[in-house]
Amino acid sequence: MSFPERGLIGIRALRREDIELILRTARSMKDISKRDVKKVPALRGKTVANLFFEPSTRTRTSFELAAKRLSADVVNFSPSGSSMAKGELMLDTVKNILAMNVDALVIRAKPEGACEFISQHVDVPVINAGDGMHEHPTQALLDALTMEEQFGTLDGLKVLIVGDILHSRVARSNIYLLKNFDIEIRVCGPPTLIPRGIESMGVKVFYHLQEALEGVNVIMMLRIQMERMQGGHFPSIHEYSKFWGLTAEILDRHAPPDAVVMHPGPLNRGVEITPDVADGARSVILYQVENGVAVRMAVLYLVVGGGR
Ligand code: CP
Repeated sequence: MSFPERGLIGIRALRREDIELILRTARSMKDISKRDVKKVPALRGKTVANLFFEPSTRTRTSFELAAKRLSADVVNFSPSGSSMAKGELMLDTVKNILAMNVDALVIRAKPEGACEFISQHVDVPVINAGDGMHEHPTQALLDALTMEEQFGTLDGLKVLIVGDILHSRVARSNIYLLKNFDIEIRVCGPPTLIPRGIESMGVKVFYHLQEALEGVNVIMMLRIQMERMQGGHFPSIHEYSKFWGLTAEILDRHAPPDAVVMHPGPLNRGVEITPDVADGARSVILYQVENGVAVRMAVLYLVVGGGR
């Protein structure tokens, strides 16, 4: 599956030059969203279908805004209220929407590999908006854009990802992306939420948050994905927060003063992050959201517009 011709299924298949092209294009897209008239004709006449088989706020809204700011027509689909309630299959649903002459599919789905599977059965590009625990490529790209903006470069950074690494497509896509650069990648969380053998992906594993925070530039907090757990990964939410939740006191005491705090959202305030950190001066969480539009504009432009 080559980028951008066949879409964007995952970061794993990208080369550093592909990532740099997307980030460069995203930087040039940011200006459009700050204008009075937030629209350019780059994808005029094209139609993008947003097919969200799983819930989403940020990804879905920003893909829609991104397509509209590039002048594409957008159709949004979610299973509730659709004929999937009558038993129609996902692939039949996709093929029926494609029969209406759609130029690209943006897909979020629960099964890992769903985007890859669909892309093998359709003749338009597919962009992965998150598939189960597998990948969330545009999230990793918007995270990288945010880090680059904060520090001027990705090379040389120390990035710590904290929390439910096991169930996180965000962690996986970020690790694949950051490995393309000279970055020290750390993960921290309860042993039960750190995948066995993750060191082979080139990351350092920590189980104590205070120790993991020493010397880092970026702290990426993750939500505990209860919806993907059968239970039993830690004794209680209270216990989890006590050992792996980021509070202002822990941040100030153990992380360097210029370290920034990121979170892909949605937040579980008071669990993995306290409100004073989420809303504090070191939080770049809403910059991540803003960058989501620019990154998705860049990906749509390169994929749908053939803009390499
Ligand atoms: N970060 C993220 O994917 O958020 P949503 O689930 O709201 O799209």
